[in-house]
Amino acid sequence: MTIHFIGAGPGAPDLLTLRGRDLIASCPLCLYAGSLVPEQVLEHCPEGARIINTAPLSLEEIIDEMRRAHAAGLDVSRLHSGDLSVWSAMGEQLRRLRELDIPYVITPGVPSFAAAAATLGQELTLPGVAQSVVLTRTPGRASAMPDGETLANFAKTGATLAIHLSIHNLAQVVEDLVPFYGADCPVAIIWRASWPDERVVRGRLSTVASLIDDTMQRTALILVGPVLESEDFQESCLYSIGYDRRFRPQSADSPFAGTTPGASPEDMGGEA
Ligand SMILES: C[S@@+](CC[C@H](N)C(=O)[O-])C[C@H]1O[C@@H](n2cnc3c(N)ncnc32)[C@H](O)[C@@H]1O
Repeated sequence: MTIHFIGAGPGAPDLLTLRGRDLIASCPLCLYAGSLVPEQVLEHCPEGARIINTAPLSLEEIIDEMRRAHAAGLDVSRLHSGDLSVWSAMGEQLRRLRELDIPYVITPGVPSFAAAAATLGQELTLPGVAQSVVLTRTPGRASAMPDGETLANFAKTGATLAIHLSIHNLAQVVEDLVPFYGADCPVAIIWRASWPDERVVRGRLSTVASLIDDTMQRTALILVGPVLESEDFQESCLYSIGYDRRFRPQSADSPFAGTTPGASPEDMGGEA
């Protein structure tokens, strides 16, 4: 018997992994985070499955359900939106399960920042512009930020910022970022990325607050950084004709000539 934590993806029901789908189909009990997990994902539950929306439950009540399933020898699918590695509240559940010696397995999902980038049709790391993406948030009613994890500190790097859980705090986000990125820095707000009613607003730090309205609350991601409108970035060496690498040695003298690709991570030569 296992608790299967499964990333249910950002919203579109077909942005669920095949492994996640098959696990949902194999579990007679499904616990899902009802505030964001799309209902169509629940259609993969087997006939007769017990399906429980955990949005109104406490941690104790959720763990009790898992404990009872464990005692009865039943597998459980536990669904959270996006991927489980960020802001899923999975950590506290895993800690209780470890204390209770109940086994669990984690199956990743498509995170909302990836869905948002796909909606924009953009790569978030471009050579010479930004090579890092910071997944962050601003403080909430129930969640303070650890010292040092300020927008100003992240902004000093010039990286692309993917700011979650902060649309209600947009004015403060802008105020914190303008000194580092400049008022002209491009911003995109993606509301309900991959859902049928998805919306996108593009603007600049100086204008973005005036471009959104009250209907774009809660499930929105704020992406900030020069990558959002760079067209003159360098090309990567990866596909450039003259670049000597293991998968495309340039001459018989190349250190890569005659080598077997794939033997170590370095053999990937940067291939993505
Ligand atoms: C509790 S966190 C969950 C994050 C999730 N685990 C993930 O992998 O993206 C919820 C926040 O993620 C972002 N989010 C989740 N789904 C989204 C979507 N479809 N479109 C835009 N933002 C989304 C929003 O910032 C929202 O406030």
